Amino acid sequence: MGSKSGFAKPAGIAMLAMSSLAFAASLTQVSNWGNTDTGVSMYIYVPDRVATNPPVIVAIHPCGGSAKEYFTLTRLPSYADSLGFILIYPQTTKDSNCWDCYSSASNTHNGGSDSKAIVAMVTYTLSKYNGDASKVFSVGSSSGAMMTPILMAAYPDVFAGGAGFSGVPAGCFENATSSTPSSPDQSCARAQKNFTAQQWGDIARAEYAGYTGQYPKMQVWEGTADTLVYIGNLQAQLDQWGNVMGLSFSHNETNTPQSGYTKIVYGDGTRLVGYSAAGVGHFVPFHETDVLNFFDLLDGTSTGTSTQPSGPASTSGASGGPSCTAAHWVQCGGIGYSGCTVCASPYSCQVLNNYYSQCL
Ligand SMILES: *[C@@H]1O[C@H](CO)[C@@H](O)[C@H](O)[C@H]1NC(C)=O
Ligand SMILES: *[C@@H]1O[C@H](CO)[C@@H](O)[C@H](O)[C@H]1NC(C)=O
Ligand SMILES: *[C@@H]1O[C@H](CO)[C@@H](O)[C@H](O)[C@H]1NC(C)=O
Repeated sequence: MGSKSGFAKPAGIAMLAMSSLAFAASLTQVSNWGNTDTGVSMYIYVPDRVATNPPVIVAIHPCGGSAKEYFTLTRLPSYADSLGFILIYPQTTKDSNCWDCYSSASNTHNGGSDSKAIVAMVTYTLSKYNGDASKVFSVGSSSGAMMTPILMAAYPDVFAGGAGFSGVPAGCFENATSSTPSSPDQSCARAQKNFTAQQWGDIARAEYAGYTGQYPKMQVWEGTADTLVYIGNLQAQLDQWGNVMGLSFSHNETNTPQSGYTKIVYGDGTRLVGYSAAGVGHFVPFHETDVLNFFDLLDGTSTGTSTQPSGPASTSGASGGPSCTAAHWVQCGGIGYSGCTVCASPYSCQVLNNYYSQCL
């Protein structure tokens, strides 16, 4: 008959399964991260098998977005599961959920506003999870790709690298009264500043006057058919970071990482690259493996695979379904999208690219 030890193993397995269920990682709001700005909140994704001294990636949502939405818009969480890094998802509810990329506070080292709030989230996370302070990165789409360069310029002492999808140079909005698509001054988003590389470099350096250390590495993605954030912002950012890092254009690699994309390499390509996505509108799909390879978080063998937005992982929740309405600037359609598809009056759902329709 069965001995006692015959039960020991199955019981152990059952307990393991139960405990992994009980501790399954999820996006969690953090309330005590030491910020006084009530318009910004912090969410975090700590994988079940977090690395010893984990790298930290801040992932910043677009205008009209949220932490929860951006959590589902990229496959970074599943890479966190396999690689053990921590994801911070900041969220703003100010200015139609757009980040403050225009105020001098946000564009100044320790000046305040959203950039400082995000850095406070990083400080909290490094301390609480014994994170690797030399491996802190920021990624973002649209408004999140406008905040990412600001973090690189104003807090180069905090970040090791950034990747922006459909954003603008650091400081680009500094004379505007807001950094939303409804700002009366669209000269930044429309790439009509016409600054030289030296001028763009000066604007970035001014965000942390006196800083003499190394600047973070930067990866910039833009679509040539973007009608909100014009393609000129690709060269403007390459000019800015090329000037700041002292790197010059090296060569192009066509159809990289996929057909229709051109990889624009500065220096040896380890610190500054751009991607021009032909025919892609606002915003360029997130390319996880290219970003993680650039940050040296993958082994470098996974290049060339394009990973498209997976869309919201779950269709459940109050926001989904045909009977709800999406507010101005909010996503209302696109591949993989399953939220509200009807826009609040008087806005209509306009297709910006295959992956993104917005209430405009
Ligand atoms: C903001 O205005 C100042 C003063 O006119 C100018 O020097 C600076 O280049 C402007 N910055 C941007 C980003 O337009
Ligand atoms: C930049 O150049 C474009 C095209 O020549 C022009 O329309 C725009 O007014 C210029 N912007 C500034 C600020 O001079
Ligand atoms: C590199 O590619 C970009 C984007 O397609 C293009 O604008 C630029 O002219 C190319 N540069 C060279 C030297 O071919």
